[in-house]
Amino acid sequence: MATVIVGTGTALPPAVVTNDQLAELMDTSDEWIRSRTGVGERRLAEPGVSTADLATEAGHAALVDAGLDPEDVDALIVATMTPDFYAPGSAPLVQDRMGLGTVRSYGIRQQCSGFVYGLDLADSLIGSDKADTVLVIGAEVHAGIQPWANQWRERRNGGSITPEERERNNKHRHWSVLFGDGAGAAVLRRGTDDGILAVELFTDGSYFGLIQVPAMGSSTQPFVDVATIAADEHMPQMNGPMLYRQAVRKMPEAVHAALKGAGLGVDDVDVVVAHQANARIVDGVRKRLGLDVDQVPMNLDRFGNTTAGTLPILFDELRRDGRVSPGTVVVFVAFGAGAHWGAAVYREPTG
Ligand code: ACO
Repeated sequence: MATVIVGTGTALPPAVVTNDQLAELMDTSDEWIRSRTGVGERRLAEPGVSTADLATEAGHAALVDAGLDPEDVDALIVATMTPDFYAPGSAPLVQDRMGLGTVRSYGIRQQCSGFVYGLDLADSLIGSDKADTVLVIGAEVHAGIQPWANQWRERRNGGSITPEERERNNKHRHWSVLFGDGAGAAVLRRGTDDGILAVELFTDGSYFGLIQVPAMGSSTQPFVDVATIAADEHMPQMNGPMLYRQAVRKMPEAVHAALKGAGLGVDDVDVVVAHQANARIVDGVRKRLGLDVDQVPMNLDRFGNTTAGTLPILFDELRRDGRVSPGTVVVFVAFGAGAHWGAAVYREPTG
């Protein structure tokens, strides 16, 4: 018996923000962003639309796709790095809005690897008979952590930014152009022999500083104050070059480890659903695995890096396009903050 994905769904906020629009806020260009990252545009949530809102919409879509009702779900897993509140996590909000009753819910914090960790947790719950139907959602609203959080909207409405705002935006331009908002969801159930065949997960806390938000935690007292906010320590700090090097090494290693666990090899793989961090990372992973361009699809040109959302959003798109059909062998793989990384081998059931 294996765990099968029986439905998927996506929620993307309607506002499209192009690289040219970002170039009005900081010293960057469409050419720089496209050539270094592959991102062409991203979706951003309007104020008042939170991670739980997008997660709820994606969760509903996945249930409809599966032909199931909220009462059928007996565990919820919400992966995000941008929860609605510092505490508690967003899972209870999603559970309440979706009408899931009082079933167990988990908020998990493996950032870009959240969905792969979520698949593993769902597989374990189903495999141990603690749940029959698990909803796994990866969702993010990064708009609010951007230094230019409101400026793109003000600019869209004809407003201008000050030289000080532009200078601050420039300080964060290497990470802030990467991210977009969105949510993806998958419904998992006990199936036949196909489904999740193997998962390998890894953590190495010695890489904690690769990308992190330094303030707003118990490591500082008070956990947030005027000085930490003035220093922008409530925003991500990223060592881009080091992150790139680790990601292109660790993701292929995880793919090989998971394939070995499944008793398969790279030649058996049809599609790799890789974390949409940036195109150079995805392409580096593809080359190391020796796969063709069409075997490692990307949608980050349209959506940017939606952190925990990238894998389920891309998988949903591939299912709808018919790129995943009965018998297709898919490998999910991600690397992200923590550092957490891992891969899951999945075969779409034929029966
Ligand atoms: N626009 C224009 N210029 C920029 C921008 C920008 N948005 N960002 C940085 N620059 C400038 C820098 O200021 C620097 O200028 P200088 O040479 O005058 O000092 C120059 O470009 C090169 O800067 P680097 O940071 O060395 O740029 P690099 O070539 O390493 O590219 C990048 C940066 C794209 C972030 C790269 O390091 C990378 O891809 N890293 C991986 C990080 C990543 O994808 N993170 C995703 C989030 S984490 C995750 O999902 C796993």
